[in-house]
Amino acid sequence: MNNQGEHQNLAAIIRGLYLAAMGKSWVVCQDIRKDPESLTIPQEALSVDISPAGDQAASPFRFDEDAAKILNEAFTAWEFERAPSGVEAVTRTTRTRHFPSCMAVKYGDSTQTLYWIDQNLDAVRKRMAERNGALLEVVRDRHFREDQSPAPELDAAGRSNVVKNRIALVTGGAQGFGEEIVRGLAASGALVFIADLNGEGAEKLAKQINAAEKRTAAVPVTVNVADEASVEAMFQTIRKTAGGLDLCISNAGVLRAGSVLEQDVEDFKFVTGVNYTGYFIIVKHAARLLKQQHLTAPAWKTDIIQINSKSGLEGSNKNGAYAGGKFGGIGLTASFARELVAYNIKVNAICPGNFLNGPLWSDPEKGLFVQYLKTGKVPGAKTIADIKAFYEAKVPMKRGCTGADVMRAVYYIIEQEYETGQAIPVTGGQIMLH
Ligand SMILES: NC(=O)c1ccc[n+]([C@@H]2O[C@H](COP(=O)([O-])OP(=O)(O)OC[C@H]3O[C@@H](n4cnc5c(N)ncnc54)[C@H](O)[C@@H]3O)[C@@H](O)[C@H]2O)c1
Repeated sequence: MNNQGEHQNLAAIIRGLYLAAMGKSWVVCQDIRKDPESLTIPQEALSVDISPAGDQAASPFRFDEDAAKILNEAFTAWEFERAPSGVEAVTRTTRTRHFPSCMAVKYGDSTQTLYWIDQNLDAVRKRMAERNGALLEVVRDRHFREDQSPAPELDAAGRSNVVKNRIALVTGGAQGFGEEIVRGLAASGALVFIADLNGEGAEKLAKQINAAEKRTAAVPVTVNVADEASVEAMFQTIRKTAGGLDLCISNAGVLRAGSVLEQDVEDFKFVTGVNYTGYFIIVKHAARLLKQQHLTAPAWKTDIIQINSKSGLEGSNKNGAYAGGKFGGIGLTASFARELVAYNIKVNAICPGNFLNGPLWSDPEKGLFVQYLKTGKVPGAKTIADIKAFYEAKVPMKRGCTGADVMRAVYYIIEQEYETGQAIPVTGGQIMLH
């Protein structure tokens, strides 16, 4: 294979095969080696040649679609015939089923590329290191649905189970709301890519979470969401590392307040470049990946969630670049939702109120409280506590928004399969829709 990009698409297509077969999340890892000639293919692996057959001029090979079709046929044939190890054929009613843990894919005259499959990142990495191709034995859980749709394991343990074993991406995940969401998802059993311009912060947080969770629950990635090449590279990293995604949370955001009479166009462009254009770029590349998974897992539902703001629902005085970009984000959300529903991708926005205890407001040097105190934005306020009280008083529920409030909305959106294109306020009643 001379095109690495196409091979990375295969990871998502292969992940789709496993999602569809068991209605559970899987991690697929592409085996990347400098010396591919040295790859030995495990005996139990499912080997598939996806090279185009027939007259290319008359019917050109469409890489994703045609590869998905060939892989699907090979996977289904393997499942219903006999595994190479001699495991008996399985039927759709069998409770315990066996699947290959390694697929070897050949394209044209290239060497084969191996993909390893297991239920979590640690297991798949161990398997790859040991070159252990033993079959995966999977017992269908009681939630398995014959229509192969994902099975949110909702029970007494609560709503957070909807993300257990799922793969998530959180942009701007190194601090603030993003950090809270990353921590919430990891604690609920997800594998989370922490994507941030602050790569060091993302790495530090990932280390902390992995030590606390005693597993690889978080993987840091450095990205600038306003730069398409950087976003594209991040999605290739996700494909190589885990094969795909179930949940993409576009949270990275910036704020530079300013009067329309005074604000520099550069500041306006900076804010909208991250908050508005950055959201478009993230969805463009996330949706391409999710669409590849959908080729082989058509009933698997995935989610894209934008962390918008109450300023996406109501104008914000001397803060037009921010509010305008956030209003635009809701337009994008509704438009993307209409298009991407065809691939079973739901797109929704969450509109939180002020996170008064978060770093954007509370940072002792650059936080909004300090800035507002210095500039006299709140008439009569003499201390930071006065400013905080002023903003709390605006909220019918008399407090700022928290990470836990936002997490409840995230779980709701994922659990709610019958809704897309919505903007959900989480503002303690500060914004009431009418
Ligand atoms: N803090 C609030 O009161 C509040 C209220 C409503 C909505 N929001 C929204 O929540 C989201 C997070 O805000 P926050 O308050 O946690 O912000 P924050 O400043 O505390 O954290 C933002 C994170 O995003 C990262 N980031 C910034 N630009 C980036 C880029 N170009 N590419 C990748 N990462 C980048 C930063 O490094 C940082 O880690 C934003 O979209 C914001 O608009 C915040």
